[in-house]
Amino acid sequence: MRIICVEDYHQMSKKAANIVASQLILKPNSVLGLATGATPLGMYKQLVKTYKAGHIDFEEVTTFNLDEYYGLNKENEQSYYYYMYDNFFQYINIDMKKVNIPNGMARDIHKESLAYERKIRSCGGVDLQVLGIGRNGHIGFNEPDIKFEALTHMVRLDEQTIQDNSRFFDSIEDVPTKAISMGIKTIMHAKKILLLANGKEKAEAIYGAIYGKITPELPASVLQLHPDVVFVMDQDAASKLDLEKLKEEYL
Ligand code: GLP
Repeated sequence: MRIICVEDYHQMSKKAANIVASQLILKPNSVLGLATGATPLGMYKQLVKTYKAGHIDFEEVTTFNLDEYYGLNKENEQSYYYYMYDNFFQYINIDMKKVNIPNGMARDIHKESLAYERKIRSCGGVDLQVLGIGRNGHIGFNEPDIKFEALTHMVRLDEQTIQDNSRFFDSIEDVPTKAISMGIKTIMHAKKILLLANGKEKAEAIYGAIYGKITPELPASVLQLHPDVVFVMDQDAASKLDLEKLKEEYL
């Protein structure tokens, strides 16, 4: 596990974009696992800048998003499909046929989940998975008490997640209560993982993910078992960590 602590959100976004960019430089046909939420927005902006400056190319890239709300279609402004197109894909030269996001409108979620897993495998697996983290330590939409062995599947959102995500909706009643999400096992199969966090409200979850017991009660704690994971965070998210001690342990 590698921990990178930077000053602020802007630095976190730049650092994360540089890590993704170097992945694409080393392997232009990389399979990227992508995340949504407020946290990676700055990283996407930076990646667009790097692309426009001619330093990276997305032509051969394949992407798999972590999750999608159940019951929202692509045209819905709150859907993660819309988010990804609006904030990222429309600005880069990605082949939209190589973009994969779970279909939240699928009639048979079980079938959709199996097909998603099969597709990830047929593309050779995820080379670099980007993650955010929920205040309760969720990754993707894998809420506390999730089974670590879960692959892509339908999940029920926690009250806290519904509360947190209601800031993107007109009212809390509009927030879907279910989603389709890669499971912990899917995430753990990624060759590399890059987790981003900023803000004081993430400090507790970050502390638990790094120092805590490995437990489904804090899904991100499972990352301690991954062989190639980097946390990039700002000072607020790192505020509960003993950085001096971490330097000795991890750097
Ligand atoms: C959502 C997403 C996660 C994301 C998390 C944190 O529920 N499903 O992938 O990491 O919330 O979101 P934010 O970055 O907005 O704090």
